[in-house]
Amino acid sequence: MDFSLTNQTVQNFDGDCVVLFSFLDKVNDDQFVQSLIDLNHFNAKVGKTLSLNFVDGFKVSRVIVLGLGEVTLSAKNYEKALISLIDTLEGEKVKSALIEEVNVDGYDQSWIYRTTARVMQNATYQIEKVGIDNEQENAIESIAIQSSSDNAHELVQGQAIANGMALTRHLGDLPSNICTPTYLANTAQSLAKEFGLDCEVLEESDMSKLGMNSLLSVSKGSIEPPKLISLSYVGNGDAKPIVLVGKGVTFDSGGISLKPGAGMDEMKYDMCGAASVLGTMRAVAEMKFKVNLTIVVPTVENMPAHNASKPGDVVTSMSGQTIEILNTDAEGRLILCDALTYVEKFNPEVVIDVATLTGAVIVALGKHNSGLMSNDQALADGLISASKIALDGAWQLPIEDEYDEQLKSNFADMANIGGREAGTITAACFLARYSKDYRWAHLDIAGTAWVSGSKKGATGRPVPLLTQYIIDSV
Ligand code: BES
Ligand code: MN
Ligand code: ZN
Repeated sequence: MDFSLTNQTVQNFDGDCVVLFSFLDKVNDDQFVQSLIDLNHFNAKVGKTLSLNFVDGFKVSRVIVLGLGEVTLSAKNYEKALISLIDTLEGEKVKSALIEEVNVDGYDQSWIYRTTARVMQNATYQIEKVGIDNEQENAIESIAIQSSSDNAHELVQGQAIANGMALTRHLGDLPSNICTPTYLANTAQSLAKEFGLDCEVLEESDMSKLGMNSLLSVSKGSIEPPKLISLSYVGNGDAKPIVLVGKGVTFDSGGISLKPGAGMDEMKYDMCGAASVLGTMRAVAEMKFKVNLTIVVPTVENMPAHNASKPGDVVTSMSGQTIEILNTDAEGRLILCDALTYVEKFNPEVVIDVATLTGAVIVALGKHNSGLMSNDQALADGLISASKIALDGAWQLPIEDEYDEQLKSNFADMANIGGREAGTITAACFLARYSKDYRWAHLDIAGTAWVSGSKKGATGRPVPLLTQYIIDSV
């Protein structure tokens, strides 16, 4: 799909269709269009559409009226309306459309262009079904946005972010028999090739030499070899890099602490942290930002087996700290802790880890906000601000010593679980023990990375939040 800015009038546009906006309690500028709106009893609720054919005074044969609700248009309502507009345009097989200029309360035109391109392109994402030809039907070819300015680079950025999200969603939606740790490593290597990035993949023997026994304790019950992927983009000389770490459990059965069967298929999404940092890397590399970005992905499969970790086992992590594995289903923190020690070698400006870490975060925040925890309030504030701009919510939870005490073990420096209470926070406290030497934040995306039910699928979050954070840091 192509996006462009144009100063053409809606009347003179000669593509397939123009999109006019309609608000509750506001009359349309075009009297004739307003009379058709009235005649059709159209009500301008957010996302409602009305298709009009051969309207007097327009060159195009079709005018689509899109409801935007209240006149003071909120960012979330604008986003919702754009998503529904894509449905209508695809349903009506529109190839090219011109969208009217609009104001969004609290945001400037640059934000509108970037967000419009990102949201519309992301809404055209289709799940690729395994083993069949996935030809995109009714693909929209071009969207022109009415504008008197020349901010077209914002459209390019918005598309780059959507391309990153598409990679994240695709990797998440793939089944775990295809998307293995090896598959993620190959994906990183092809990104490196496409965008000229530095890629390094550590194998089991390399990790063993580094003493990553915590990470390896998770993968040892699986036939799939573990990998530790690093991918670096250099856009700003020798400045310290932003380092993103993504949890890449390509399937989380729970291990010997086996999960119940219902809904277990969704544990193929337990690599969405990894997918989101790969997607963010794709977006940043495509935008050619003046930043240094490194992503690190510890990736394993968590399976029960005769040679799997057992509850009560004690391992020594790369940092030297020992861990009593009381529950093999708390495996995310076991692979992340060694990755968080490993990233010290990059001399990071900040480290942000992204992980589908706890079911408890869904109890706390539902599926709307990612959980955010940090050892640095300025970093947390930066991420919260980026999350608001990107419409990709995150909500901060505290990390305090009282919670950390729940990790006490009689047999090791710490246990890998902290009991029933505040499960999201005790998981972060565990990670905090490995992140003392740099500014660090943790995003628990267990509730936001995918949706369940009839629309089951990956969301591409938190790629918008992460890319916005990086844009803001330039
Ligand atoms: N991958 C899961 C977290 C998860 C659960 C994400 C449900 C999305 C939906 C993680 O590895 C896990 O199993 N966490 C346990 C931790 C517990 C054993 C302390 C959990 O949340 O139950
Ligand atoms: Mn688990
Ligand atoms: Zn998991």
